[in-house]
Amino acid sequence: MTQNTSKHAVVTGASTGIGEATVRKLRADGWHVVAVARRADRLETLARETGALAFAADITQDSDVAALVDFVTANGGLDTLVNIAGGARGADQIATAKEEDWDWMFQANVIGTMKMIQAFLPALRAHGNGTVLNLTSTAGLVAYEGGAGYNAAKFAQHAITNALRLEEVANNLRVIEVAPGLVQTEEFALNRMGGDAEAAKKVYEGVEAPLTGADVAEVVSYAVGLPHHINLDQIVIRPVAQAANHKLLRK
Ligand SMILES: NC(=O)c1ccc[n+]([C@@H]2O[C@H](COP(=O)([O-])OP(=O)(O)OC[C@H]3O[C@@H](n4cnc5c(N)ncnc54)[C@H](OP(=O)(O)O)[C@@H]3O)[C@@H](O)[C@H]2O)c1
Repeated sequence: MTQNTSKHAVVTGASTGIGEATVRKLRADGWHVVAVARRADRLETLARETGALAFAADITQDSDVAALVDFVTANGGLDTLVNIAGGARGADQIATAKEEDWDWMFQANVIGTMKMIQAFLPALRAHGNGTVLNLTSTAGLVAYEGGAGYNAAKFAQHAITNALRLEEVANNLRVIEVAPGLVQTEEFALNRMGGDAEAAKKVYEGVEAPLTGADVAEVVSYAVGLPHHINLDQIVIRPVAQAANHKLLRK
């Protein structure tokens, strides 16, 4: 089967976790990659180790996103946008949820994704074989107690993905959603639990083999590496121990 041959990707959320693993995997597969996140020091290390280009940007800030577009344009352009930046803040029920947590989640997951897509759509359309991959979550498919803020943000990202596929079909844009379940990354649960390492540890406690960032990166690289006419609309990926959002086997 002929593989995708143009291979210029922009990957957000690249300073750690799933995004970092995705940069490593795409570089190993021969892609040109611009790695994006806010923490420049971590990106520089990743760039040295992988040969990716690093660009520090906050995807919720217009000036940062505009500067990123200039940088990408000056460095070979792109055919593939991989939106991984995002995350969760808090595990409160709606009765006690904190507005600032919801604000953060909407900005990082929804508004940031919208800004990145808007900024790069002209280049992706002009390319003619563009791809946008949005990293959502199984939290964007089924709601759960204590998840409402994150559910709402990820449901929104899921909806954006579906609308974009419809809106851009005439521009030959391929639009992929990857929705993982439990993934054990260094910072995700820690950030969600407000820096409480004990609470973060409990999220994965007794789970035999949660997914890793590298597992998800494998799936992302497969989806964007396929010939362009093949669109994996939505890929749900869970560890075997997680039969459903509400059914997580802990030993
Ligand atoms: N871990 C899981 O269980 C899981 C499961 C399903 C889906 N997901 C989703 O997968 C994605 C990655 O998860 P992860 O576990 O790798 O999370 P993570 O370790 O917390 O990484 C989040 C990444 O997003 C970046 N980021 C956050 N806000 C940003 C902003 N405003 N501008 C630019 N970059 C920003 C962070 O970099 P800086 O801090 O350096 O900016 C970091 O690189 C998220 O969208 C998450 O919701 C995670």
